[in-house]
Amino acid sequence: MDPKTKVAVLISGRGSNMEALIRAAQAPSCPFQIALVLANKPDAKGLEIAAEAGVEALCVDQKPFGKDREAHERAIDAALRERGVEVIALAGYMRILTPFLVDAWEGRMLNIHPSLLPKYPGLDTHARAIAAGDVEAGCTVHLVTAGVDEGPILGQAHVPILPDDDDHTLAARVLEQEHKLYAATLARFVSEQRIKA
Ligand code: GRF
Repeated sequence: MDPKTKVAVLISGRGSNMEALIRAAQAPSCPFQIALVLANKPDAKGLEIAAEAGVEALCVDQKPFGKDREAHERAIDAALRERGVEVIALAGYMRILTPFLVDAWEGRMLNIHPSLLPKYPGLDTHARAIAAGDVEAGCTVHLVTAGVDEGPILGQAHVPILPDDDDHTLAARVLEQEHKLYAATLARFVSEQRIKA
């Protein structure tokens, strides 16, 4: 049988989506493996969680690169290629990408966003959905393109917004769905890529 598709998860923080992907990858039938977890900051909590789960956890610290975001991304790209990574999953990676990384990984880089895109790209999605009087919210997995949170949508999950929700309660309800949606969408995506290959 073909080896599983090698996925790198890029994080900046707590890494709960990353953890969900690591757990999903442990199933024998899962078509992807998490080859690397990479953070842009040394204090990203998710690095510890990945290491504890036996996954290589690497920090390519953005600090020494200062404002040169492309140089930072070139270092990330080199680390990914050294490990034979085939697909990138952004999971709470809180740095806007330059065209260098976006172009280099076009069609092979996914992101999860906590809204029903195209509604509410950017930050504070839950507060904005509540303020708008929406009756539902959700999350989206999409391919990464040059426009922030604009790439082709691969999957969405919907949740209700309840009358007494605040952004924290809504975020928690959405996050639960994010964890399921990301693993399922990534599995489908890599399976489809293999059929095409
Ligand atoms: C998630 O809500 C994700 O949709 C967004 O950033 C958050 C990351 O959370 N892009 P975690 O680090 O996966 O827990």
